[in-house]
Amino acid sequence: MSSAVFACWQPLERLPAHLRLQQSAKRWLRADLRTEFAAHPNRTRQLTWRLGPWLIDLSKHLWDEAVVAQLLELACGCALPAGTAALFGGERVNFTEDRPALHMACRGGAQLPAGDANRFHEAETSFARLVARYRSNQWLGATGQPLTAIVNLGIGGSDVGPRLVAEAFRVLDLPMQGTLRFVANLDPRDFRLATADLNPATTLFVVTSKSFSTAETLSNSMLARHWLAQGLGLTSDDPRLSAHFLAVTSRPEKAAAFGYSPEQTLWLPEWVGGRYSLWSTVGFPLAAAYGWEAFAQLRAGARAVDDHFRTAPLAENIPVLLGLLGVWLSTYLELPQMAVLPYAEGLRLLPAWLQQLEMESNGKRIRRDGSPAPYATGASVWGMIGTLGQHAFHQWFYQGTRRIPLEFIAFAPTPPEEASALTRQQQQAAWALAANAIAQAEALLVGRSREAAHTQLLAQGSDAALAEQLAPHLEIPGNVPSTFLLADRNDPQTLGMLLALYEHATFVRGWLWGINPFDQYGVELGKQMAQRLAAPGTSEHDPSTVQLLARLGLPPSA
Ligand code: F6P
Repeated sequence: MSSAVFACWQPLERLPAHLRLQQSAKRWLRADLRTEFAAHPNRTRQLTWRLGPWLIDLSKHLWDEAVVAQLLELACGCALPAGTAALFGGERVNFTEDRPALHMACRGGAQLPAGDANRFHEAETSFARLVARYRSNQWLGATGQPLTAIVNLGIGGSDVGPRLVAEAFRVLDLPMQGTLRFVANLDPRDFRLATADLNPATTLFVVTSKSFSTAETLSNSMLARHWLAQGLGLTSDDPRLSAHFLAVTSRPEKAAAFGYSPEQTLWLPEWVGGRYSLWSTVGFPLAAAYGWEAFAQLRAGARAVDDHFRTAPLAENIPVLLGLLGVWLSTYLELPQMAVLPYAEGLRLLPAWLQQLEMESNGKRIRRDGSPAPYATGASVWGMIGTLGQHAFHQWFYQGTRRIPLEFIAFAPTPPEEASALTRQQQQAAWALAANAIAQAEALLVGRSREAAHTQLLAQGSDAALAEQLAPHLEIPGNVPSTFLLADRNDPQTLGMLLALYEHATFVRGWLWGINPFDQYGVELGKQMAQRLAAPGTSEHDPSTVQLLARLGLPPSA
């Protein structure tokens, strides 16, 4: 763990910029953004950046150019440029697992590790060949019929990334071949519902598991085997069933122990973290259902961000700025949460994907040198499709007692030449959707004073006494900080850019905090405990657990 790459990293608290940022935070926690906008007419221009189709407006945050400069100084003090070079150079930045983190290499954004280049190219060739086989209806099942439905069995990073992109592609109306479903939950109802209308003779199960030892996924793969056997009138160990399975994993030997042949297995490199894996062979369901070109466009968008992150100066580097903003919000302003509000139906699953990305990556406290971080690290991330959230939890943003930074994501309506497929009403609705996002960010910033509420009540016909009584309830403090990401197009490339921006911003934060964003030892303890419980009587439990297990009764025999 004592790699030279970390030698230049300094604990934040030892850097002069840290102290200055703590001082700045005191001022900004009392600041009013409305006053800041009024006093500094250039504020929006100074705190807005562009990257391809994306406009990144960070001006509605409790900071200014001076704070950004301090954060950049902090980043230099922590040797962030060396960290970025180490990431792209394939150094072992995943220091607790002693391996590189090179998901960018899957999309051409970084060099492949020399020792794995051949194996990677072979896996890509198999990936493309299997996609072509599926798309040309030449992937035949046990009965000789072509397989036309894909069910991905996976969880966490082996599910949510491809699931998010599949949903985004579906909503973009990209042409799709066959049927695509995802099953993640150990609850057998998930599998039952996902397969209820599928024909076993034409269904392909993609068992996606980096470790090939995740209980939920292995359990679902057993359900799949039984479902196929029953539907096809075969025994569950009939070798003909193997035509209906593909394994995607870093552990082909484990897949082989379950009976998967090399032809039925796609390799996922060990140096691709699960939650960063959608760009790899884990993207098989996407490329098979939506075609290689759509998948290549997604990868190309992410690659453009890799190039930008690797080469742009820190002060103009969008993932760096987004990462530093996260450090500012979490560590200095001590705001422990972040709500993500995509105003786009296709990004319905973005909050879930981001939740895993940020919370599994940066939900940690022990640093490279083994010391606990004496500051707050990763925030909790949650959210929902913007318009739906407005009618659920935005009230909490408007009048609750806690402050939470928000992240709005919206797309400018489709340009007229591409909008011909939309009716005039649909075009108006698309415009209203983006306008709604902008209006929410503004309303949460501006708020409504008690005087304004009072005047409004009188204008609406309340008598003076009632207006006096109700005005405090209508008052909205405002001054809610928010990020606004606005794209002027919505396509696979733009989506790839967005996801890669988040990935790299997560790395930036992890680097500054000195934690490893690429391991997940906490989650693994939970996995081990579940295995202990699956073998009752073999270990001691606390009294509460004993009570719950007794209530559950014994597991049914296999
Ligand atoms: O939930 C923990 C985790 O280890 C994630 O990091 C990972 O994405 C998920 O489980 C699935 O793991 P695997 O791909 O090995 O089945």
